[in-house]
Amino acid sequence: MKTHIPFLFFRKTITLGPEQAPLPPGYTLSFWRPGRFRIRPEGFPAMPFLVWGWCHALGVFATRDYGIMLIFRRGRLVHRTCLLPAHFRFPFMGPGDLQAAGIWTHPDHRGTGLGLVALRAVFHQLHGSGRTVWYMVREDNNASIRLAEKAGFQPWGRGRKLASPGLGMLGAFHITEGPSGRPSAIWPGSWYACSAPVPKASGSAAGLGAGPGRGRPPSGCG
Ligand SMILES: CC(C)(COP(=O)(O)OP(=O)(O)OC[C@H]1O[C@@H](n2cnc3c(N)ncnc32)[C@H](O)[C@@H]1OP(=O)(O)O)[C@@H](O)C(=O)NCCC(=O)NCCS
Repeated sequence: MKTHIPFLFFRKTITLGPEQAPLPPGYTLSFWRPGRFRIRPEGFPAMPFLVWGWCHALGVFATRDYGIMLIFRRGRLVHRTCLLPAHFRFPFMGPGDLQAAGIWTHPDHRGTGLGLVALRAVFHQLHGSGRTVWYMVREDNNASIRLAEKAGFQPWGRGRKLASPGLGMLGAFHITEGPSGRPSAIWPGSWYACSAPVPKASGSAAGLGAGPGRGRPPSGCG
């Protein structure tokens, strides 16, 4: 039987952007934006990148901010952090809010700080804007929770994906516990405990066990 693991929701308001974290030597960083005839980066899988590209092109996203922070090493993609504007799947987001989503680091490069570099670069881009960035993660994904903590996101709630019949990609996420969700007797103490240490593995076998930690790039946090 399929189990539905709850999600944790974090958020951060970008007032003054932090200093950009330095890239380790040999890596390059760039921010991809969709263009008129370019709705996904070359070589990216259709799901979810075509869908997101069309959401941008058709105005489903609330703002024009959709883009992807990319880190390469020797011409090879080793990290991506997508920046998604508010839309119907994330009803907890305000119209000008953004979400760091689809975050992925190549297994051979995990634990080297690339996730933090990319998030800091995103914050730097939004420097002084006062905008809110959300970070949503399955509550069993310790490495990702740890990354959110290091990047200065504040825990905001806990919730679930409400599936729409047969169309997982359309399922919306709802915060059910926390300030913007149903009042909870356990808020704020017990739903969020500091993330447990992550067992480190080497090479392409590195991962987090079950769930999105395996080597194959996940389609996104959702
Ligand atoms: C979550 C993820 C993006 C973190 O990226 P990263 O570039 O490794 O980030 P960091 O280097 O800042 O490390 C973050 C944490 O990952 C854990 N980690 C370290 N080395 C690791 C390794 N070899 N394998 C797995 N996790 C590791 C540590 O807890 C680390 O925190 P620490 O620096 O305080 O020890 C990456 O593990 C990943 O791609 N996971 C699979 C996809 C996924 O789960 N995406 C997030 C969806 S919300």
